[in-house]
Amino acid sequence: MNENNVHIMTHPLIQHKISMLRDKQTGTNEFRKLIEEIATLMGYEALRDLPLEDVEIETPIETCQTPMIAGKKLAIVPILRAGLGMVEGLLALVPSAKIGHIGLYRDHVTHEPHEYYCKLPDPIDQRLIVALDPMLATGGSAIAAVDFIKQHGGKQIKFMCIIAAPEGLKRLQEAHPDIQIYVGHLDRQLNEDAYICPGLGDAGDRIFGTL
Ligand code: URA
Repeated sequence: MNENNVHIMTHPLIQHKISMLRDKQTGTNEFRKLIEEIATLMGYEALRDLPLEDVEIETPIETCQTPMIAGKKLAIVPILRAGLGMVEGLLALVPSAKIGHIGLYRDHVTHEPHEYYCKLPDPIDQRLIVALDPMLATGGSAIAAVDFIKQHGGKQIKFMCIIAAPEGLKRLQEAHPDIQIYVGHLDRQLNEDAYICPGLGDAGDRIFGTL
């Protein structure tokens, strides 16, 4: 699916690794590695429109004009805490990226997000920003994170999640129709506790081994 600003991944390697993530037998070590690998594979897709410019390079044979990534600098912004698990996967592609952090916790009763930390590279307005959260559930955290990024001056924003619920994806699209959203797999629905079904459980707990 590609509804203009929503990009649902179809690559077999991504689908295979997401299935391994879902398995409740997958332990912390393997889970972390899979999250990173999926983030790298998704990052490759999400960064395919990075602008290029020709630069002059001297090969051992001759001088030539050849394309390299142009001007736009990258900021990776994980939403704490589960988004942290995806950072290394993106850094593997763009090691020089700056990293911001947004800390949100979900109220257990209302499921609404509350900010407890926000530190972004400054200035942020000239950067391409990739916000990370492996799970797009109700959409509350993602919407709040993108709100904060915009309040700090962020303009070109991409949001990347490994699993999304239709409810959260719709809310995020409606709240921020100007951002690009990358989804590893679109799951069936949320349950009454706002967990994604079939999902993979609590991504943060599985990444950090705090089950
Ligand atoms: N966050 C998670 O980690 N898992 C879900 O299923 C929903 C939100």
